[in-house]
Amino acid sequence: MKDKLQGIKEKALEQIKLTDSLDKLNEIRVAVLGKKGELTEVLKGMKDVAPEDRPMVGQLVNETREAIETVLENARKELFAKKRELQLKAEVIDVTLPAKKNNVGHSHPNTLALEEIKKIFIGMGYEVDDGPEVEYDYYNFEALNIPANHPAKDEQDTFYINDKIVLRTQTSPVQARVMEKGKLPIRMISPGRVYRADEVDATHSPCFHQVEGLVIDEGVTFADLKGTLAEFARELFGPDTKVKFRPHHFPFTEPSAEMDVSCFKCGGKGCRFCKGEGWIEILGCGMVHPHVFEMCGIDKEKYTGFAFGVGLERVALLKYEIDDMRLLYENDTRFLKQF
Ligand code: DAH
Repeated sequence: MKDKLQGIKEKALEQIKLTDSLDKLNEIRVAVLGKKGELTEVLKGMKDVAPEDRPMVGQLVNETREAIETVLENARKELFAKKRELQLKAEVIDVTLPAKKNNVGHSHPNTLALEEIKKIFIGMGYEVDDGPEVEYDYYNFEALNIPANHPAKDEQDTFYINDKIVLRTQTSPVQARVMEKGKLPIRMISPGRVYRADEVDATHSPCFHQVEGLVIDEGVTFADLKGTLAEFARELFGPDTKVKFRPHHFPFTEPSAEMDVSCFKCGGKGCRFCKGEGWIEILGCGMVHPHVFEMCGIDKEKYTGFAFGVGLERVALLKYEIDDMRLLYENDTRFLKQF
């Protein structure tokens, strides 16, 4: 019996010595001290031991158990410490490393310009409306007093989807759509994308943005148009901004005008920015043509109104002093982050 216990102990200690992982160590514990372990089996065999020998054998078994437990525990501590050390080495944090850059996007100059324009008109009580970019030829041209074969149609070389459907060349069709709904009075702006078959250069793009405006009520006059757009210019470009209206022609307004603002760079003296003119063209406008009222079902005897169309890119380029429109479409964040 003594030899057997000695054998178990020696074998266990040898195995423990050779063990290099906590899992294996646990396996040894189970194999020796577990419910069906070798030492437990010996204890179960106590009934075959002569009664007078039992205390001695019992003591021997306990000593063996304690000896093995002590070695097991020491080995466990050692292996655990080693594992910790390896872990700490592997997970070391170098606090001197540069932090990961958090790359936050940036509002596009067009978006910034549009936000400003919206703020100004919403402040004057306008609603913001929307219309389709793929539009009927009817709304883009006919309802705006531009019948087939009208020369004004040539000026806006269009992308045709088919005979009746085009990519809208202007945001003005939203005017016709809103008027047709017949809810009066109207005080709205409508920003959006427009398309023209233009070559890309510093001032042209086949896809750009406009902001349309429309006001219809009883007794609206050209004085309202001038007052509104002058106030718009002052809020957008500064309180000293002056405006000038030059007669122009748009088929859907009569009379029509283009509005220039005094150059906010030189104050009107003439500089590189305004090409020596002192003035910068900024939008088209006019009083809604009676024929447009008729086509859209509005009583032209009772109502009058004015409309305007601003090029959004034009405002963004001016406001943020960008000299090439193409920069707006490259989406280089180094460029965008400057505004
Ligand atoms: N739609 C015109 C264009 O693209 C701009 C314009 C002019 C809009 C006069 C208007 C307006 O509403 O009254 O050139």
